[in-house]
Amino acid sequence: MPPSYPRIFLIGPMGSGKTSIGRHLADLLGLRFFDCDDAIVERTGASINLIFDIEGEAGFRERESAMLAELAAQKEALIATGGGAVLSAANRALLRSSGFVIWLKTSVEQQARRLRKDQKRPLLQFDDWRQRLERLAKERDPLYGETADLVFESSQRSVPQAARLLHEALLEQWASEGTKHATH
Ligand code: S3P
Repeated sequence: MPPSYPRIFLIGPMGSGKTSIGRHLADLLGLRFFDCDDAIVERTGASINLIFDIEGEAGFRERESAMLAELAAQKEALIATGGGAVLSAANRALLRSSGFVIWLKTSVEQQARRLRKDQKRPLLQFDDWRQRLERLAKERDPLYGETADLVFESSQRSVPQAARLLHEALLEQWASEGTKHATH
């Protein structure tokens, strides 16, 4: 069954499985997969860490918004966003108006398990990284909530299992909505 939406966005915190579950889900739906961070790295030839070092978080956020606008013009696409993409009201409006938005919700415990040895995420390269995850969740959960069309609990599941369950939940939600929100 073809998706009712030409474009799907995954939002949620670092370590919620946006990239891994996203790839599987894109396969199940027959959509092309894009990852906003990967696209920035490819475009600039610089790691996210290096961009933060040189341009600061503000510089990274500008690049992130620009890349998001580019990706939001792709058709038949599933797009994994960075955990902080929802910080900007303009990004949130873009996500909501450009496609169907899924929040991959996860616990800080699960994030901590997945990100324990992470060296790629500049916001976690601190001794108190676990407390930082808690703080970010408190700040950002309301933003994920206001942006999402569907909330999916991604904790405690293998990637293929999570993708399969999410696929089922999506088809169910789209069927119950009929063509009300279809955008193509
Ligand atoms: C960030 C999340 C990262 C990346 C950058 C900032 C954030 O993406 O965009 O390190 O602010 O939460 P992931 O959510 O894909 O790890």
